[in-house]
Amino acid sequence: MRRPFAGRRFLLPVERGAAYIGVLMTTSSLPGFRDFYPADLALRSHIFRTWRKVADRYGFVEYDGPPLESLELYTRKSGEEIVGQLYDFVDQGGREVALRPEMTPTFARMVAARAGGLPKPIKWFSVPQLFRYERPQKGRLREHFQLNLDIVGETSVASDVEVLAASIDVLREFGLGPEDFVARYSDRALISAVLLRLGVPEPAMPAAFAALDKADRESEAWVLDRLTEAGLESGTARRVLDVTAMELGDLSRDFGDVPEVEARLVRVAELSAQIDAAGLADYVALDLRLVRGLAYYTGLVFELWDRKGKFRAICGGGRYDDLLEAVGGPALPALGFGMGDVVLGELLRDRDLVPETEHTLDDFVIHVSPEQLPAALRIVHSLRSLGRRVGFDYRSRGVGRQFKVANQAGAGRVIVVGPEEVERGEYVVRSMDTGAETKVSVAELLAGGADG
Ligand code: HAM
Repeated sequence: MRRPFAGRRFLLPVERGAAYIGVLMTTSSLPGFRDFYPADLALRSHIFRTWRKVADRYGFVEYDGPPLESLELYTRKSGEEIVGQLYDFVDQGGREVALRPEMTPTFARMVAARAGGLPKPIKWFSVPQLFRYERPQKGRLREHFQLNLDIVGETSVASDVEVLAASIDVLREFGLGPEDFVARYSDRALISAVLLRLGVPEPAMPAAFAALDKADRESEAWVLDRLTEAGLESGTARRVLDVTAMELGDLSRDFGDVPEVEARLVRVAELSAQIDAAGLADYVALDLRLVRGLAYYTGLVFELWDRKGKFRAICGGGRYDDLLEAVGGPALPALGFGMGDVVLGELLRDRDLVPETEHTLDDFVIHVSPEQLPAALRIVHSLRSLGRRVGFDYRSRGVGRQFKVANQAGAGRVIVVGPEEVERGEYVVRSMDTGAETKVSVAELLAGGADG
């Protein structure tokens, strides 16, 4: 049967991501996946550089792990939502595997494998690319990069504050201030103790947290439905919503007789005092409705949001004291955060905090005709081996054209190599800023070193 379009040429609208390239095929990436053209990569590199700079300032060291892990690593502890978004498949060896949707399980696995030999506290960071099959929308894609910064082996409030402070300092380093963003925090163990007292059974806790996690995006009726689906009486579900809207003082009044609640309230007060001492009070707000969707958190939980609420969460993290043991390691406490590049990039663009991309050459070596190409190449490569950024014209075009290219490339100076220059061993060097010209020998040219 003849295929109706076989052999036909197509020219499809490029803005729809399709074009004719020999055979009919699409030029767009998969939905939710990004191409990083140079200008996009410049922003990504700026984000990565800033992440690394702040992590380094806090004394964290960089690590990485594999992008593909065994499926079980996530099904055991990450929580239903993320497991439902996995890119998983059976590999050719019959193993059930998944692309990493988050870094924490890999981090826990790696630390668990060597925990005995590592001095504590372990302070590591990473910048992995992660994959989640989400509905692509503003702030949510199917791949993203995340700064992960975690501490293992510490239960102190000071370590909670250290991690929170690092996340805030990262945003400050980008030029964002307390008017731009806020770190909302809570204590999952406190909420857990209150919920237990209200009669929420332990097994229903993960589903109750997953429902509360959506409280700021969904209607109250929706959250109440999820809570009753999780097995709560409708009266209890209502009480759960009400207590998470309470102030700390009210919680203390109503639940202060529960030792665990009292202990957690003391810890939250200490955290708040240390946040003040670190000079970060303007950047934080206690919010007991914040519980976080991931299943493994056990204490402090926090998220960074833009003040106007225009974007999705920029960053999320908390304490997960049981995870290392759950992945087969020793019982070591841990905490950290993940900050994605997608929402952060949107926020930086919105606040005009994206630095100008500059690709500038130091020198452009012009050769007047093809005969001078070998002489020009000697100069080009000698300058490059000094560490200078040097360009030249591959096609020996006219001198005027080469000047234009030098200008477009943002070259600081142009070196002209013509027949007389080669014969005399002296070259005209023109500053592209001032237009001033000097004649110099190759030795003088190279003696200038990397600074020119
Ligand atoms: P998470 O809240 O799932 O936490 O993700 C952290 C951040 O990654 C989010 O606040 C968001 O900026 C970004 N992010 C997550 N999913 C997407 C997506 N589909 N597209 C774009 N950005 C996204 C975790 O992943 C925890 N493992 C963080 C952690 C580290 N907790 C302790 N240590």
